[in-house]
Amino acid sequence: MDAQDMQDDLVKVLITEEQIQSRLSDLATEVWKHYEGKDLLLVGVLKGAVMVMADFMRHLPGSAPMDWMAVSSYGSGTKSSGVVRILKDLDCDITDRHVLIVEDIIDSGLTLSWIRANLDSRSPASVEILTLLRKPEAAKVEIDTRWVGFDIANEFVVGYGLDYDEQYRNLREIGTLAPHVYS
Ligand code: PRP
Repeated sequence: MDAQDMQDDLVKVLITEEQIQSRLSDLATEVWKHYEGKDLLLVGVLKGAVMVMADFMRHLPGSAPMDWMAVSSYGSGTKSSGVVRILKDLDCDITDRHVLIVEDIIDSGLTLSWIRANLDSRSPASVEILTLLRKPEAAKVEIDTRWVGFDIANEFVVGYGLDYDEQYRNLREIGTLAPHVYS
């Protein structure tokens, strides 16, 4: 799919590249202050969070290590069934460490709710969540999310790590996908 086709599949650009970078910069400053003097570990959730992680950590005014998990909904073919299996676990032990989960989007919240409970069970010093996007209208569970980039409407969005059928992840902005693409 070429760049023009990707653009043509968007109804509109919801959040521009500049808006994303500006928000991530502000969040990075807040997060760095919050963890001052603490041993912070960034945990990304593959694959959607790769762009957020790459840019967020480069906005941090210092260095922090990262690790990654990959998970998949288990059982029914639909995502966000709430039952999750780990495809790739963390490389490191998080005992007594301050963990910040870095996500691209909280939709129903079921995936992150499971991941958070899983990480909480490993005796970390703390677990907090940063997500670039959140869809309040789609929430099925309450999640305590300390840092949110943007609350958005319950629309199908792609770009900046978010995919439809593994496409569009490399768009620099976040856009609403035209219904003709997925219907
Ligand atoms: C997306 C996103 C979250 C999850 C959010 O991942 O990255 O992990 O869905 O949905 P929820 O709040 O309804 O549980 P996806 O399963 O699409 O995988 P990907 O990151 O590899 O695209």
